[in-house]
Amino acid sequence: MEVTVIGTGYVGLVVGSCLAEAGNRVTCSDIDEEKIRRLNSGEVPIYEPGLDRLISHNLGAGRLRFTSDSSEGIRSADIIFIAVGTPPGEDGSANLGFVREAARTVGQHVRPDTVVVMKSTVPVGTSEIVRTEIRSQTDTSFYVCSNPEFLKEGDAVGDFMYPDRVVCGVDADQSRTRMEELYEPFVRSGNPLIFMDIASAEMTKYAANAMLATRISFMNQVAELCERTGADVELVRRGIGSDKRIGPSFLYAGTGYGGSCFPKDVNALVQTADEHSVDLTVLRAVSVANDRQKTVLVRKIHDRFGEDLSGMRFALWGLAFKPETDDMRAAPSRAIIAALIEAGASVAAHDPVAMDVARAYHLGDSIEYGEDEYATLVGADALVLVTEWLQYRRPDWEVARQRMARRIVFDGRNMFDPERMEALGFEYYSIGRRQVGEPSE
Ligand SMILES: NC(=O)c1ccc[n+]([C@@H]2O[C@H](COP(=O)([O-])OP(=O)(O)OC[C@H]3O[C@@H](n4cnc5c(N)ncnc54)[C@H](O)[C@@H]3O)[C@@H](O)[C@H]2O)c1
Repeated sequence: MEVTVIGTGYVGLVVGSCLAEAGNRVTCSDIDEEKIRRLNSGEVPIYEPGLDRLISHNLGAGRLRFTSDSSEGIRSADIIFIAVGTPPGEDGSANLGFVREAARTVGQHVRPDTVVVMKSTVPVGTSEIVRTEIRSQTDTSFYVCSNPEFLKEGDAVGDFMYPDRVVCGVDADQSRTRMEELYEPFVRSGNPLIFMDIASAEMTKYAANAMLATRISFMNQVAELCERTGADVELVRRGIGSDKRIGPSFLYAGTGYGGSCFPKDVNALVQTADEHSVDLTVLRAVSVANDRQKTVLVRKIHDRFGEDLSGMRFALWGLAFKPETDDMRAAPSRAIIAALIEAGASVAAHDPVAMDVARAYHLGDSIEYGEDEYATLVGADALVLVTEWLQYRRPDWEVARQRMARRIVFDGRNMFDPERMEALGFEYYSIGRRQVGEPSE
């Protein structure tokens, strides 16, 4: 099939490359000319495991191409995916400016009977807006359907290739048939391709993210209560996660959820509810709890050292909002670093892949960047662990002891064992567990 993907970001690039891998001829377009230039010169603009191999393989096979001129791909497409960004507006609602613009471009070049698929995460009713925008540009017949994306950054290729399920909102047999054909290679092992009406498909995406965010905020609040009552949130997590009705995923207490999806999608769903006079009290609380959680480590640091951190130096491990990605959108590290600097401290940070993105787009020269994680520890008053990258799991504590000015660790991911940290002579603070080691000064 001829497929065009409009918007070559985290989602569009993965979707386009995976569809090419399945034998389709795919054109990925983006208004960001620099991004297209880099892709055409063999550079992959984001870090996503396995994606570079997929892109080079399909570029080489002539099944994948990149262009900054969307019209090229639209004219020949059987299926067009709109995968542009839907960033939050000032009131928290999804900003549909990019979606509308992409839809008008589709309308200017679409050929008869093309299926136009909404891949971006959009509020219920947006597919109708897309239909109207396309219709404003053309009399050609076309179909609109909603196919929300559930991939996780860091495991995006695997999630697309082997999805738990694929959700498709359709209102015509023609679009259903074409989506069945397109997804057939990805649902062979019995994982369902679930067809439904368009509004339900749009809602499914938000409800999924809202549910996952709710589990995280719930566990973060349970963690706070654990600290006050002497319980251990890691034991509680195992205790409830083994219940089949609950399951083990998304029950980890930490520094709050971040990234480009959960914060914006929770707020957008609350906004949609407001517009329909439905008070989503649970989700409002989820968002408030998360905002507070992002500074949980900062509060622990102030409790330990006082409000004024002038002259203090912190090593910070992990900038990306989660491991295996370089995405720093709404990353907890940003809130933590801002608060530490605001209080007068300096920060030396390390991340296995996100330091270039951090320097270029988010933090500039406001912090130091370590060439490895141990370089950040020299003279540090404390280590702050923010992202649970695998390489941070078993640090050489002897090296850390030698380099740090004080043996203090604030662990936002409960990566280390309190008893072991105490035995190693560290003062150790984590989330929802007892603090160990006596403050020495
Ligand atoms: N990132 C994720 O993990 C993820 C997962 C599932 C769903 N989503 C949703 O998918 C959508 C895209 O997310 P993303 O993370 O890929 O965003 P992104 O910001 O990485 O990429 C969006 C791209 O669209 C391009 N664009 C904007 N307007 C365009 C136009 N008119 N024509 C061509 N290109 C245009 C931008 O230049 C950008 O490169 C969002 O709605 C998001 O909520 C994201």
